[in-house]
Amino acid sequence: MSETAQLKIGDKTYELPVIEGTEGEKAIDISKLRDQSGFVTLDIGYKNTGATKSAITFLDGEVGILKYRGYPIEQLAEQSTFIEVAYLLIYGNLPTEEQLKAFEYEISHHTLVHEDMKKFFDGFPSGSHPMGQLSSLIGALAAFNPASLKQGLTAEEVNLEIIKLIAKMSTLVSWIYKKSLGHPVIYPRNKFDYVTNFMHMTFGQRTEDIEIDPVVVSAMNKLLILHADHEQNCSTSTVRIVGSSDANLYASISAGISALWGPLHGGANQAVVEMLQKIKEDGGDVDKWVAKAKDKNDSFRLMGFGHRVYKNFDPRAKIIKKACDDILEKLGVQDETLDIAKKLEEVALSDPYFVERKLYPNVDFYSGIIYTALGFPTEMFTVLFALGRLPGWIAQWKEMKTNKEPIGRPRQIYVGEVNREYTDIKSR
Ligand code: SDX
Repeated sequence: MSETAQLKIGDKTYELPVIEGTEGEKAIDISKLRDQSGFVTLDIGYKNTGATKSAITFLDGEVGILKYRGYPIEQLAEQSTFIEVAYLLIYGNLPTEEQLKAFEYEISHHTLVHEDMKKFFDGFPSGSHPMGQLSSLIGALAAFNPASLKQGLTAEEVNLEIIKLIAKMSTLVSWIYKKSLGHPVIYPRNKFDYVTNFMHMTFGQRTEDIEIDPVVVSAMNKLLILHADHEQNCSTSTVRIVGSSDANLYASISAGISALWGPLHGGANQAVVEMLQKIKEDGGDVDKWVAKAKDKNDSFRLMGFGHRVYKNFDPRAKIIKKACDDILEKLGVQDETLDIAKKLEEVALSDPYFVERKLYPNVDFYSGIIYTALGFPTEMFTVLFALGRLPGWIAQWKEMKTNKEPIGRPRQIYVGEVNREYTDIKSR
């Protein structure tokens, strides 16, 4: 493979370096193109544009492969825990027993949030969306951790903010849920592991410790692992570009939460369950809704289907679909929307419209069914996605800072008015 690509523009030919990643991906490095030729490239939605070189997550959308730091997602989902995967993503290797214990100890001793943060909940109108609350609360953590605003933090100081953020986000997510019910918040208990602690704060009662079913903890670990990172998706790219301006970690993550909120991205898990419930209320006529999804004059889309990168099965969807059956059976939960989801998948995957466009179920298609079985209301689904994605966002933010990447600032092609003279308002 030649080390350069040649670009012919008019009577000139430009040599552009070609780089190849460790998994064989290839890119033409255009970082000098404008200086050499005066041209920029245009790629609306960055469908063909690499924004960085990253060593965190690899995915092959054609084949349906996903690996965190080289480990297949299937192995991590089956054998690891969310906190161990968080360590892997952020620090690059699986921890030793001692390293994991120290990481868990650090996190468990930062789960408390400043009591004054409760005042924010007095300001949120009841029923306000949990994602709006979460992005506000995480941004506000900067105010309660002023040291994080200092420029030139040492690696140890950055790591402390990382630990605090992982610890406090689980507390804040559980408090958002409790406040939505009008219930008193439950404080973290250091004796519990991360996921058990989160379930204790979310579903516990102030009067006594409830039994947290190990089946539920295992399912939650798996779901959080499957959401932990996904290379340069919309919200991760947002975290990286906000962080590239030297904005603090909390501001960067708060921006990522806002990006994830959109129904085309992380908000899809809520939209899927709302869609399944609508189909169920409509009598379960799956063919009718698949026809609507195909109809260009109908704004309805099959939520949880399709993906920018996966043109084959999303490996996470496969794992979650299998987990659905296991968990619902173990918890003795009947959920008619699971049957509708399976029927929808079967009909869509035999329909040329979906097959030709390589539209398969993605991570959001089945996840909401498990969240529902675990007791979460639909509005909480996307904050659970954010809780899972947090270590990935942090790892990507840290990699961007460590590599001293420049502030992100894309170019454009201007297509507006050219020269106009200002006129007095009376003459317009
Ligand atoms: C996530 O990037 C990531 O990695 C994201 C994520 C992560 O872990 O961070 O994996 C998480 O965001 C998963 C995606 C969740 N979103 C949804 O499930 C929403 C429904 N899906 C889409 O709207 C859509 O598929 C996207 C947004 C996911 C991808 O959109 P693209 O890549 O911009 O593709 P497109 O919109 O240009 O669609 C290509 C064609 C179009 O038809 P034509 O114009 O070619 O005729 O496919 C059609 C679209 O109309 N299409 C769908 C469809 N998705 C695409 N038609 C019906 N239903 C759908 N869901």
